[in-house]
Amino acid sequence: MFSAGFYIGALLIIALTNLLYKWRYPRCNGVLPPGSMGWPLFGETFQFFSPNPTCDIPPFVKDRMQRFGPIFKTSLVGRPVIVSTDADLNYFIFQQEGQLFQSWYPDTFTEVFESLKKMLPEVEQTASRNLKLWSSLSSIDIKEATAEMIFGLTAKKLISYDAETSPENLRENFKAFIQGLISFPVDIPGTAYHKCLQGRKRAMTMMKNMLQERREKPRKVQGDFFDYVLEELRREDTILTEAIALDLMFVLLFASFETTSLALTLATKFLSDHPLVLKELTEEHEEIVKRRENPESGLTWNEYKSMKFTFQVINETVRLANIVPAIFRKAIREIKFKGYTIPAGWAVMVCPPAVHLDATRYKDPLDFNPWRWQGTDTHGASRNFMAFGGGMRFCVGTEFTKVQMAVFLHCLVTKYRLKAIEGGEILRTPGLQFPKGFHVQIYEKK
Ligand code: HEM
Repeated sequence: MFSAGFYIGALLIIALTNLLYKWRYPRCNGVLPPGSMGWPLFGETFQFFSPNPTCDIPPFVKDRMQRFGPIFKTSLVGRPVIVSTDADLNYFIFQQEGQLFQSWYPDTFTEVFESLKKMLPEVEQTASRNLKLWSSLSSIDIKEATAEMIFGLTAKKLISYDAETSPENLRENFKAFIQGLISFPVDIPGTAYHKCLQGRKRAMTMMKNMLQERREKPRKVQGDFFDYVLEELRREDTILTEAIALDLMFVLLFASFETTSLALTLATKFLSDHPLVLKELTEEHEEIVKRRENPESGLTWNEYKSMKFTFQVINETVRLANIVPAIFRKAIREIKFKGYTIPAGWAVMVCPPAVHLDATRYKDPLDFNPWRWQGTDTHGASRNFMAFGGGMRFCVGTEFTKVQMAVFLHCLVTKYRLKAIEGGEILRTPGLQFPKGFHVQIYEKK
């Protein structure tokens, strides 16, 4: 006779095997793409987040592309995911967007934030002022310094925030938020995820209080994005709610400074490693100044638009930067594609690095070579270029980023020289990071 313990043990093993089987072979009305679901609960999350110090396709994706082909399944942070490195599936995902829902921003967004023509002098003055200050120091961390600079500018435009007069340090809250943004979701004190949630909470409370204050004491002149949002909230036919408005504000502040400062830091690093690129870039900008009647007059919109080689440098930088390493969607209904079935409810992950570093699309894909963009359109998205997304949800900040980068590079190469001192190494987890920053010395040109 077997003991009760034996039966309980046997039942437990059967139940666990059943669970494991169901986890490994999820139910599907067709053929799921190949791939592994990893371990129950954790899936392949740890492999996905494992750090990698190169510009190449993340090893997680590269290994699986070799083993399973361009479309494969996995499980990340408890969710079943289909990863796409297939150009046709990427295109399909981006194009389907508008069918199901549409992204929405108030018209005033365009007015305030993207009235970049009007902002150009301000961006230039900010870059000039900061560079002058940095050149008086023995060394400066370009990553931290550009993030501070861009945050200052956008927070002022959006919510008239001034770090020097505000009692709360808004950027610290954003920093905490960003550091835990792509982390394992365990909400206990001490984890990056917990700090991320706390940072977001504090920043949201602060913005909520500001909104309340403005409601009670409306300002005489309408100036920043917050004022426009308040006006929109007062309209009867608006679909905007206070919660959406605060979320929108948060997303815009977050999206604006971290991405652009990473791109600028990487561009600076590439320029310090590639003297021929720096030379051609400097010539383009010196030429702009030479053509002016008054060399001290500020940049014009036409001058900005004429910076051909600069746009090539920017595109090449963001191609290699892969600042957004994964673009997520959710399949709202079952999708059949190339013989595979993506079940409803599964996440779909488009993997831009697999496109940007594909040797059949970009010769010697790991080389920093801005000349490869010569004669091509450097302003749109395509099947081969999705650093700013694609389809309906194309990044609304693309032009803003380009203005920031082009103007900063203009001020840098026309007046200053740069010497790398320390850091500059990258790490991807899988988001791009500069763990030691990038410390440089900036000298004024004689
Ligand atoms: C180097 C800089 C930047 C990169 C690489 C970048 C990349 C991207 C990508 C890939 C998307 C598409 C995400 C998706 O399809 O789910 C996106 C969307 C977005 N970006 Fe950016 N971005 C940058 C700068 C900015 C800036 C400066 C802003 C703010 C002004 C901004 C605001 C947004 C917003 C609001 C969306 C969502 C659009 C929507 O859902 O319709 N981004 N960005």
